[in-house]
Amino acid sequence: MREFQDRAAVVTGGGSGIGTALCWRWAKAGMKVVVADIDLAAAERVRAALEAAGHGAIAAKVDVSQAAEVEQLAVLACHTYGSVALLCNNAGIVPSGRYRPVWEYPLEDWQWAFDVNLMGVVHGIRSFVPRMLAQNTPAHIVNTASVAGLVSGSGSPVYSASKHAVVRVTEALYASLQEQGAPIGVTLLCPGLVNTRIYESERNRPDNLRPATGAAAETPELQAVAAQLYAHALSPEAVAEQVFDAVQAQRLYQITSDQYDGVIREHVDALLARRNPVFPSLLDLSLRDRRV
Ligand code: NAI
Repeated sequence: MREFQDRAAVVTGGGSGIGTALCWRWAKAGMKVVVADIDLAAAERVRAALEAAGHGAIAAKVDVSQAAEVEQLAVLACHTYGSVALLCNNAGIVPSGRYRPVWEYPLEDWQWAFDVNLMGVVHGIRSFVPRMLAQNTPAHIVNTASVAGLVSGSGSPVYSASKHAVVRVTEALYASLQEQGAPIGVTLLCPGLVNTRIYESERNRPDNLRPATGAAAETPELQAVAAQLYAHALSPEAVAEQVFDAVQAQRLYQITSDQYDGVIREHVDALLARRNPVFPSLLDLSLRDRRV
């Protein structure tokens, strides 16, 4: 997609981090922006700042885990701006306690991560793609997965499994649109470490999905390096710039860092050689992407 001026972009999770930076990037390209977030106050703040800078924007309270709310978002966006040229399925969460072994995660963590990270993307696809196909003008969909959707091992298994699923769904979306010759591009955004509020995700956990045992704490090792890691992580604005470039170039894979390439390669090599892999720990992975 190369025409941005006066067309509409919808960004889920637009109230913080990468989503906010995407809203600003589309606005700078001349687009009108629908800032959608479960946190309406945060979405409103972004909308107000965009408007104050002379950009057209509306805010919407949307929980992407709810199909009906995402459908309402599509209705609102099309009603307000006539059509939607760009959809960023970006909202996502990480349950705290990323060092637990896979058998220790409570069902509530699985449910919440898959409801938001996977089904949020699925709901976006189901509500927006048929409308974009009917528009029959160039459009684009950006799905935010993670490098966690490309690497494997013991760390953060619930979050990572949901992001692996986003990778698969996004590749299916890309392939189906290609097969139909539809004028709709697809980008799979796989960020490495980015300096956002993602590790404060518990702020958005619904009450009915709070485990009886309470939210798990991070290990002292991770806590010790976390602040330092994030202080040196990529900025959301730099990620948004990469996404803008990927949309214009019709690029499917936008992996923000090359620091994980060796780990991905080792995994694929092990698979193809039918040998047991050597997986890095989550801390090893995180430390790889520190920008100093
Ligand atoms: P963030 O926490 O700063 O922003 C996420 C936004 O999503 C927040 O405004 C939050 O209110 C919203 N949100 C949460 N649950 C929602 C729901 N059910 N419905 C609608 N909105 C909801 O975090 P960040 O980093 O900007 O996250 C954006 C995406 O980037 C996520 O999908 C995350 O998994 C992904 N990502 C982030 C990385 C990082 O290091 N920050 C690395 C890889 C992927």
